[in-house]
Amino acid sequence: MRHTTNVDLSDQNTLALPSVARHQFEILNDEDLFEALACCRQLGLTWQVMGGGSNVLLPSVIENGLFRIQRTAIEVIPLNTKCVEVIIGAGVNWSEFVQWSVSHGYGGVQNLASIPGTVGAAPVQNIGAYGVELQDVFVRARVFDGLEGCFKALAREDCEFGYRDSIFKRYPGRYIIFDVTLQLTTEDHLFVTSYGDIEARIATQGVSLQTIYQSVAEIRTQKLPDPQQLPNAGSFFKNPVITRDAFLTLKQQYPEIVCYPVNSHNVKLAAGWLIEQSGWKGKRKGHVGMHDKQALVLVNFGGADRNEVLAFAQAVADSVYDKFSVVLEPEPVVIPAS
Ligand code: EPU
Repeated sequence: MRHTTNVDLSDQNTLALPSVARHQFEILNDEDLFEALACCRQLGLTWQVMGGGSNVLLPSVIENGLFRIQRTAIEVIPLNTKCVEVIIGAGVNWSEFVQWSVSHGYGGVQNLASIPGTVGAAPVQNIGAYGVELQDVFVRARVFDGLEGCFKALAREDCEFGYRDSIFKRYPGRYIIFDVTLQLTTEDHLFVTSYGDIEARIATQGVSLQTIYQSVAEIRTQKLPDPQQLPNAGSFFKNPVITRDAFLTLKQQYPEIVCYPVNSHNVKLAAGWLIEQSGWKGKRKGHVGMHDKQALVLVNFGGADRNEVLAFAQAVADSVYDKFSVVLEPEPVVIPAS
């Protein structure tokens, strides 16, 4: 276990917010965790976990113990001729794992290519893109339960996955994810290609693990800014879910409104469309703005702190509410200072 103090996190979060962790603990295994917990108890600190820093809003100072889980092993367990289980350490980079899985011919996560962050963070917000969500391949996670003080395995049903949601997100600070088991397929026809942009690309290139992976990577590069060049946390707001009745009323006034069906009662609106229609696409105020190619992505042009980001996001959400009476909720996790 490695305990460091006053760690500068400004280059360890993709929004590049200035932040210092008073106590950071790098944890490789179970013993490291028990040592770190004992150290926090001694210092009178609570703790929280941070993965790759790609979906968080950090405060200027984190007084709590900040745990970084650094397990990076990958183990493959063949189940039968059609599928395997893969156990992946929480510290593995998600995007590198997807690349690994495609290069080994394991299907299931290719639509989730190029998403920043760690494997341990993936179940927290049930990452999703281009018609696939993590829960579609998730089998179980091995976690430490801080409330019960023991390790346990949580199966898919236990995690209560929803759209960008899970028990890990709902009970922050309770669970520490150590590794994640996914079921992947060795069959070469179980592809999700219904998303318009992918369909168009594979029509010319043919459908395979590689072409889907390439298509998703290309679409993301075209639409989403690279955090190394323009700091951001991906989609800043969730796509709001509203009732079908509320949708029909909006549709009368805005026939072009973009939506996806959720179930017989609810529909999901494209927050990017609502933000663009409210005049925020490509609009900048101070150090922050909404991206000019994807209005759902808030960018830090350099020099912003969390308060400025939250104030700007509130102004965007207020405009959308004034125009459409729809509430936008931020997607990234707000990390408390203590
Ligand atoms: N749109 C606009 N203007 C914009 C952006 C979008 O009008 O500036 C409309 C377009 O009609 C477009 C529709 O919104 O067709 C949907 O846009 P897009 O396909 O880019 O997807 P999204 O709903 O904005 C979601 C996820 C992304 C994921 C994509 C693809 C959320 C909050 N975001 O974005 O996830 O990559 O779908 O599946 O659900 C992330 O979570 O960080 C993320 C990037």
